[in-house]
Amino acid sequence: MNHTILRMKEIEKAFNGITVLDKVNFEVKTGEVHALMGGNGAGKSTLMKILTGVYQLDEGSIEIDGEYQQFSNPSDAEKVGVSMIFQEFSLIPKLTVAQNIYLHYEPRKAFGMINDKKMVSDSRKIIADMGISISPNDLVENISLGYWQMTEIAKALSKNTKILIMDEPTSTLTKSETKTLFSIIRRLKESGITIIYISHRMDEIFEVCDRITVLRNGTNVITASCADITMEALINNIVGGSMGQSLKWIERPIKENRKPILEVKHLQSGSRVKDVSFTLYEGEILGMAGLMGSGRSETVRAVFGVDAISGGEVHVRGSKKLIFSPKEAIQEGLGLVPEDRRSQGLVLEHSVKENTILPSLGALSRRQIIQNSQADEKVEALVKKLKVKTDDIHKTVSLLSGGNQQKLVLAKWLLNDTDILILDEPTSGVDIGAKAEIVEIIREIADSGKAVLVVSSEMTELLAMSDRILIMKDGEITSSIDRKEIKGEEEVERAIQVEK
Ligand SMILES: Nc1ncnc2c1ncn2[C@@H]1O[C@H](COP(=O)(O)OP(=O)(O)OP(=O)(O)O)[C@@H](O)[C@H]1O
Ligand SMILES: [Mg+2]
Repeated sequence: MNHTILRMKEIEKAFNGITVLDKVNFEVKTGEVHALMGGNGAGKSTLMKILTGVYQLDEGSIEIDGEYQQFSNPSDAEKVGVSMIFQEFSLIPKLTVAQNIYLHYEPRKAFGMINDKKMVSDSRKIIADMGISISPNDLVENISLGYWQMTEIAKALSKNTKILIMDEPTSTLTKSETKTLFSIIRRLKESGITIIYISHRMDEIFEVCDRITVLRNGTNVITASCADITMEALINNIVGGSMGQSLKWIERPIKENRKPILEVKHLQSGSRVKDVSFTLYEGEILGMAGLMGSGRSETVRAVFGVDAISGGEVHVRGSKKLIFSPKEAIQEGLGLVPEDRRSQGLVLEHSVKENTILPSLGALSRRQIIQNSQADEKVEALVKKLKVKTDDIHKTVSLLSGGNQQKLVLAKWLLNDTDILILDEPTSGVDIGAKAEIVEIIREIADSGKAVLVVSSEMTELLAMSDRILIMKDGEITSSIDRKEIKGEEEVERAIQVEK
């Protein structure tokens, strides 16, 4: 394993005169799983986009298997075996799994016709080799987000990949699902594929990676073998100092006679929400745990009026409400931070400021005119509090790093005066430093009397903030557990498993 497959030397990259990568060195050995770590905006995705030909470097060099490479586009990189699974999915929902895997590389018959049969059988083989069960004929829009991930991996594998880059592959996966991904990674490693792994989840790194390289503000901090570095040292290298807050549970006082603010009764929606009932009280932080596909996101989407409700009732502040659209949900005082920030959370072409004030336009306008200076001030304050890395709130959000976009989706709802805040995977893609701050902000919101419903696949975070945790299985809430009664993560992990 001592052969160096990849050598990136003294890489420099600036966007509009702002340096994003400053003489970064990155070396990876054949067959290793190499973690690339660093806070939001550190430059990880940019470095990988250079390696895959999405961006061109300003200075520096790339060597693969001892040969210098210059990539003008992703297909140049693919030709020498470099593929990336992007933070933002690139699948086409209306096509099948197989069609997505072979998009632009469809196997052909004589006369150029697409060989569907071969495409499906080759896809089936790749999927089977990965050890997962999805059908190549399923439409991508009908499979859950977690499986999009698997489809993306299958797509990369179909291209004779030698170096596979995964950018935060587990951000919406639970621990057991992550284990499936890890077994895929181990299989790939055994077959000689080199993996570059980007993640903000510390425990994963130690489980699956051989070595780690940390970037901070576009420069190298360290490269170390996982065996030689402690979790604490790693975190300190990432945040550049010691962590301010930690993800520990703080028991919150529960008010007597508190009122229910949101009651969901026998809710049905689509095929995934079968019979969901729960009550959320004012001032409460209610967690929701479940496996990929258990219907958590679909439940909150139905409550918020994104997906149609086909049965059951939603009561807000004691009276029955018919919510047919997000607009009506907002009028009832609800807010939703969605799981898929790219398609649902932000208007990418709009500025940081425009995105942040969108749901609070009413409050910030007087006679239809937005109070600009007041809005600027509020947005600036939030950007600072959440440490969103942007030099100008008037620039478009498409220029921000993934984690910083996620923080903005959250900021957007914090600014708005919502009584009932629903958060779907609020810290997915957010770095370790900001995670604890977000948990702290969520506590502040609940302490002010508002109610928060949090869906999260990360048990550590769910246990750190929830007063109570709902267990969702196969479209139903099967139990509600008081946080006080929960001894550890394993207990919740076990509770969400579906008995076979
Ligand atoms: N196309 C672009 N134009 C201008 N600035 C950009 C562009 N792409 C990235 N940046 C900036 O480069 C910096 C590094 O971004 P990058 O996406 O590489 O961070 P990251 O380490 O992947 O962070 P995250 O963990 O949030 O995904 C950020 O400050 C970002 O705003
Ligand atoms: Mg990134």
